Amino acid sequence: MTEIQNHVFENGAQLADTLANYVTEAINAGIAERGRASLVLSGGSTPARLFQQLATRPIAWADVTVTLTDERWVDETSEDSNAAMLRRELLTGEAAAAKFISLKTEHATPGEGETACAERLAALPVPYDLVVLGMGTDGHTASLFPGDANLGPALDPDTAQPCIAANPPGAAQARMTLTLPSLLSCRRLVLLISGAEKRAVLEKALEDGPVEDMPVRALLRQDAVPVDVFWAP
Ligand code: 6PG
Repeated sequence: MTEIQNHVFENGAQLADTLANYVTEAINAGIAERGRASLVLSGGSTPARLFQQLATRPIAWADVTVTLTDERWVDETSEDSNAAMLRRELLTGEAAAAKFISLKTEHATPGEGETACAERLAALPVPYDLVVLGMGTDGHTASLFPGDANLGPALDPDTAQPCIAANPPGAAQARMTLTLPSLLSCRRLVLLISGAEKRAVLEKALEDGPVEDMPVRALLRQDAVPVDVFWAP
């Protein structure tokens, strides 16, 4: 079982401030030790809350490389695109100086784009300094969804694939997701959860039960990387 550090806050502002300090420290440690830092962010709405606070922190963004934990296979002008969200909401101001590696190529499907995305990711040395993941109410994380035919290969601890196509049942779009070994190739991993309804989901994820039912369990049960869980209503 991994070492899980729980950071529980009464409100999102407290979470965002503490998390911004945590992320700033991780980034600056990476830059101090290796000249550059690598930051891997999830999509969804929570990272934007984080970056609002990061704008006030002393970070040498030109020395930071950012990529995504997963991407919807849509045009990057689509509002569903995580790359578009990142560019629109997070990599603005001083953070616009960061280098961004997208998980989208010109291929028609994520399956056809796996090799190209893997080649793009190869430009970012591992272990990543920090991976920030969210969690859905179904226990998904990144685009590791219950019921996805590719979930098994994506969770395979021995896969050499850094990313794999995902087809979440019922989801509007096919996706590309980093595989579990790729997500765990990091020095620090944050599970960032917001919403009162997700507290119960987190408690359930911490219980026994198949990983396939709640893929976030794969993060909570591994012992390669300590996980910091940040939760606020
Ligand atoms: C995505 C994300 C996804 C997200 C969770 C939580 O592309 O949607 O990677 O895994 O992290 O759905 O989303 P919220 O942060 O909006 O709760």
